[in-house]
Parts: sequence; C-alpha cells; structure tokens
Amino acid sequence: MHRLTFRPLAATAAALTLIIAGAVPRSAGANDEKPAAPTFNRDVAPIVFAQCAPCHRPGEAAPFALLTYQDVKKRADLVTAVTASRYMPPWHAEPIATAFHGERRLTDDQIELLRAWVDAGMPEGDAADLPPQPEFTPGWQLGQPDLIVQMSEEFEVPADGPDLYRNFAIPLGLTEDKWVRAVEFRPSAPTVVHHSLFFLDPTGQASREPGFARLSFEGAARRGRGQGDLGGGSNGRSLGGWAVGASPLPLPAGLAFRVPAGADLILSTHFHPSGTVERERSVVGIYFADKKPERSFTGVQLPPVFGALAGVEIPAGEKRYTKTDSFTLPVAVDAFGVNSHAHYLGKEMELTATLPNGEAIDLLRINDFDFNWQEQYQYEEFVRLPAGTRLEARVTWDNSADNPRNPSNPPVAVKWGRESTDEMGSVSLRMMPVDEADLELLQQSYRDHVRAAARERMSQRPAWRERLKRWIAASASNDEAVE
Ligand code: HEC
Repeated sequence: MHRLTFRPLAATAAALTLIIAGAVPRSAGANDEKPAAPTFNRDVAPIVFAQCAPCHRPGEAAPFALLTYQDVKKRADLVTAVTASRYMPPWHAEPIATAFHGERRLTDDQIELLRAWVDAGMPEGDAADLPPQPEFTPGWQLGQPDLIVQMSEEFEVPADGPDLYRNFAIPLGLTEDKWVRAVEFRPSAPTVVHHSLFFLDPTGQASREPGFARLSFEGAARRGRGQGDLGGGSNGRSLGGWAVGASPLPLPAGLAFRVPAGADLILSTHFHPSGTVERERSVVGIYFADKKPERSFTGVQLPPVFGALAGVEIPAGEKRYTKTDSFTLPVAVDAFGVNSHAHYLGKEMELTATLPNGEAIDLLRINDFDFNWQEQYQYEEFVRLPAGTRLEARVTWDNSADNPRNPSNPPVAVKWGRESTDEMGSVSLRMMPVDEADLELLQQSYRDHVRAAARERMSQRPAWRERLKRWIAASASNDEAVE
C-alpha cells in the first residue's frame, strides 16, 4: 500500500542522489583524469537490451532490430537523436512521485552516455563485457491462458492508404459469468496493428461482419444498461486494450472484470498500413480469476464521455485550447491506473489530486501527447486518496500550424467527434473504494457529475438533447466509438 507520508522522504532521497551523481564528474575533472570512453559491450548494450530490444527485435512492431553492435552502430546518429529528444523509447508520462509499472524512460545520464559513445567513435569494447542477449518469453507472456480465441478470419490490410479502424466480434462461448484478470493480445501482423481496444457486447448484437466499421452499443444502452458503470470499471463494457509495444498488464491482485455469459468480445483495432499487404488474424488469451473477486473497481473520466459534454470547439490556429473538469471523491479510494485520450491535436494531459489536507499530488502529466502511443499507465502501488480529495483534469489541444501532428494545413476549426480528424479529450483514473461498501456511492456520485455536465450542455445546445441522451446512455460502455 502506498504511504503518502513517505513521498517527501523519497523525493529528498532522489534529490540527494542527483546531487551526489552530479558531483562525480566534477571531482573527476578536478583530478584531470579523463573518464574512459564508454564502450558498446560494457555501457551501451545494457541500455539497448533493456530499453530498446523489447520492440526492436524480429517479429515486433519496430522497423529494425537493435540487438547487436552492428545494428546500433549502423543507426548511431538516429539513436542519439531519438533518445535525446525522448522520442524513443516511447513513453509520454512525465515522472511523478508515484512509480509507474514498466516505466520506459531513459535517465539523463543514459542519454548522455549514448551521445558520449557516438562522440568517442563508437568503440565496441571488450567482448567479455557484453551481457547475454536479452531473453524474451516465447508464446504467452503471462503463461498459458484459460481461454484462447481468435478472429474468425483474416483481415487484409492494404499496403498503403489511410489508417483503418475496424471492429471484430468474437463469440466467447461462455455459459456462465466469468471474471477476467488479464487479456493478452497477439497480433499476427504486428507491423500494421497499431492498437486494439477490447469491449464486451453482452447483447451479442454487434455486427458479425468481420471488420465492420462502426461500433454502436445503443441497443444495449436503451435496454436499461445506461445505469451501469460510467467509468469503465469491473462491471463496465471495457476490458482494457493493447497498444504497440505494450506488455499485457494484469489488474492488481484481487481485481477482475466481469464478463457476462453469452457476451461477445469486440476487438476495435487501429491499423496503420506498412507498405506491404498484411493479413491480420489476432489471437487473444484470456486469464480468468479463480473466483469472483471480493473487491470491485470503477473509474472516473474527466471530462466525461471523452469530452463530449465539455463543448470542445477548437478555433483554427488556436495554440492552447484548454478544457478542465474536476470531481470530488465522496469516499476514500485506492487509485491504480490512469490513461488519457485525445486525437492528433491533443498536446498536454494533466490529472492532479488535492487532498483534504491541501497536499497536491500529480497523478498523470503528459507534456507532449502522441495519438500514436495511447498507453495505459498503472501505478506500481496503490495511491490512497482520502474522501474529499478533489481530482482535477486539464486537457490542452494545439490547433496551430506549429503542431507537426496537425492533420490540417492550414489549420481548420475542429469540434468533438469520432473521426481521428475530429477531437476528443479526457483523462481517466481507475480506482477501488477503500471500503467495498462505498462503491455504489462513488459510482452514483460520478453519474451525478456526468448528468450535471449533460444538463449544462443541453441548456447551451437544446437541439442536441436527444443526441446527448444517447451519448450518456451509451457512455456506460466507456466507449468512444458510439454514434
Ligand atoms: C515500445 C516499443 C519501442 C521501444 C521500447 C523502443 N522503440 Fe524505437 N521504435 C518503435 C517503433 C514502433 C518505431 C517505428 C515507428 C516510429 O518511428 O514511431 C520505432 C522507431 C525507432 C527509430 C526510427 C525513428 C525514425 O525517425 O525513423 C529509432 C532510431 C528508434 N526507434 C530507436 C530506439 C531506441 C534507441 C530505443 C531504446 C532506447 C527504442 N527505439 C525503443 C518502438 C519502440
């Protein structure tokens, strides 16, 4: 369990380490001892094996391998450039007091070392220093799944053309309700599968046409499921997702998603053509919990419905267009996961918590959001947030011509919408009430928050009444892909 009171101590220790680390080169310089140039085998290989090879190896999404001296030497200038700019390894959450699980972030010293190695002429070094080649788990990373399902047929991704968003319904064949603690997604054509979001269709009504383009849970929502978990928790429609480079991430011990008997799994997949025709037939491994979990979790998305109710209307050329939303927790929670969503214009994402004692903590901070890397972040340990904690989200979009990711040149006015060239924006926090009995109060309170936002929007735009009602009902699925 995370102890908030330990944080200032940890921060001090980190600051001390920095001071000490900073002192070393200075005293070395004073002695006029030139530090030995870094070598590939001793200094560079450990960084590359740990931080680059998980993706830069055959069969993975990155376009070339970084496994040997030759591999790295050949691209040394590019390697120093992309590490210095922090384009690689891809990781967009800024460091905060709480550690993220599986954080991919080079330290300043590591970045500097890579540069110093290139400056020194890329010495290979002593063969005895070379660490063993990294080992990657063949087959399933989480072990043998309890249930393995596969797309009914291959989906052909053309060699070029625009990105494709396609949905695939896969019957799970469950005759009783089950609880899922992890999903491992294995694309058959990893070079073109950018990300896939997993949804449940409890009605089994989604199209069975492979690769159908639009996902709508409206039918389900109308049948009274709109009262469900608006925040994407253990009783919602989402089963999480997979993005390029991501490792399967089991829920923290004791937590699981409920999967009702008869539900279909829907893979909502983003394809990015690679220059050659590829055929994708994803395989999904599902890991069940042994028993019904004793604890439930839920989520809070700010602003709700991916920003649909926030009145996102970004003028052409606007450099900093911002929306904020806040929500006060009615009960104590243990937060464990955070993620954000926007499209190409999304720039900064921020979620902070102000505790009742006035202490402010960062829960997520992204300064350079990238639509191409929609990561789910999980904290290494639960973050305790007492009742009365105020969560505050801020999303900033850059619709200026300076934004290299702006799909329109010159920029055009952009509104909230489903296409990638429309915009969305929100930050979501996953949490477990400290006391299970508080779940309903927490969910009710968040539903009230969503309704209040909807009422305000309806008063601004009376003509949208019916549309907004549908969005709210459908948001029980926590799914952006709703018409
Ligand atoms: C999570 C997976 C992942 C990790 C980890 C990763 N890369 Fe990459 N890398 C990619 C993918 C995918 C691409 C191709 C798409 C792109 O350029 O965004 C890429 C592209 C690159 C490129 C080409 C950039 C260009 O402009 O053409 C370089 C160089 C590179 N990576 C270096 C590294 C180095 C060095 C590391 C480790 C310090 C690293 N990568 C870690 C996935 C990864």
